[in-house]
Amino acid sequence: MNRKDPQKDRRDQEKNSSPELEYRMGKIFSSLGHGMYVVDKDRRIIMWNKASEYILGWQSEEVLGLDCEEFIGHVDDSGNNICESSCPLKKSMNEGRTVFAGTVWAKTKSREKKPVNVSCAPVLDDSGEVYGAVEVFSDATLEKMIDRMKTQMCSVVAHELRTPLTVMKLYLDMLIDQDPGEINDEQMEMLRILQDNVDRLASLVDDLLDLERIESGRLVLHLEELDLQSIASELIEEFKPLAIEKGLTLKSKMSHVPEISGDRKLIRQALSNLISNAIKYTNKGSVEISLKTEGESIVFEVTDTGVGIPPDELKHLGERFFRASTAQVSEKKGSGLGIAITREILDKHKAEMKVSSAPGIGSTFRVIFPMLNSRTTAQKGGDDFVQ
Ligand SMILES: Nc1ncnc2c1ncn2[C@@H]1O[C@H](COP(=O)(O)OP(=O)(O)OP(=O)(O)O)[C@@H](O)[C@H]1O
Ligand SMILES: [Mg+2]
Repeated sequence: MNRKDPQKDRRDQEKNSSPELEYRMGKIFSSLGHGMYVVDKDRRIIMWNKASEYILGWQSEEVLGLDCEEFIGHVDDSGNNICESSCPLKKSMNEGRTVFAGTVWAKTKSREKKPVNVSCAPVLDDSGEVYGAVEVFSDATLEKMIDRMKTQMCSVVAHELRTPLTVMKLYLDMLIDQDPGEINDEQMEMLRILQDNVDRLASLVDDLLDLERIESGRLVLHLEELDLQSIASELIEEFKPLAIEKGLTLKSKMSHVPEISGDRKLIRQALSNLISNAIKYTNKGSVEISLKTEGESIVFEVTDTGVGIPPDELKHLGERFFRASTAQVSEKKGSGLGIAITREILDKHKAEMKVSSAPGIGSTFRVIFPMLNSRTTAQKGGDDFVQ
């Protein structure tokens, strides 16, 4: 039987009373393994924990009262100042929600750049008003290093595979054309299977080399004013035969949109990957492609009635070699690099990609391009990449 103990109740009440709670929260705050700091509405530091001192080198007495931009100065992989264009702290305060900024760079006291995984959330006062925000971050140096090693290894392997593959393709084509002599149907069938697989391997190698080129920063964008409508129409014509072959309806809903600034070849590749996926992962129904203006953005959308992606797997979309369980069950072949390339290309163009999907119902991939000369350029992926 639960008998009430008034003394225990009072002790509990005292424990949860403000000073006691604040004291305990302070202890938790300072002993957290993650870097954590709180800013007021003007982004001035009001709390700075021990892990922040350890990761970034500044002691709390050195930074209290400073604007965090002055000394942390988050930048993205391309060196763009995030604090100016898309501060996650400000965004969390403005939108009243947690914002995941993903991996960005922070300056340490010794002026090194350190990769950190960042998320920010608004802090509310007793009346529910936003009075500041909290940033939680962890050191991502090791993750970045492993990532770089993976990329380097993949690129070395890809480079080494390229030459033998070219030779194999050449001889296979000659055999299929029966240049050295006639071959029978059974041999032809075998050669075709061989050709299919060599083509797959060659496209994997190309994708790996593309990714390496983009990630290493060696990619030079050839920017021009692009008419997305003509690119989308070209792609629809290109994919029509494939859709018809699969018995899918390929619909399009285009409105005239202003030109964007972009690299034609890369933008084409990014949009083509999305349409190709929509057709690949849809067995019946339709794929709809639309293009429209929304406020100061241009939105390209691909909606399908395909296998979809389970909600808990959406966050992995864009990771190299990621393949959703729905794709694996449906036994569609693929290497899981297309979206990673698309994402990198879109990032380079300051375009955002949002995905909504439901297994068995379908998916919508939405690409939001900033309008040319628009002051409110689309922000880099990170938190909003997958929703
Ligand atoms: N429209 C879609 N419908 C359902 N799943 C999708 C769709 N687009 C992408 N996916 C899922 O995301 C994964 C990654 O896509 P991505 O294009 O990167 O790789 P892939 O299609 O497997 O191979 P490839 O590198 O040859 O394109 C896919 O394997 C699939 O699980
Ligand atoms: Mg693909």
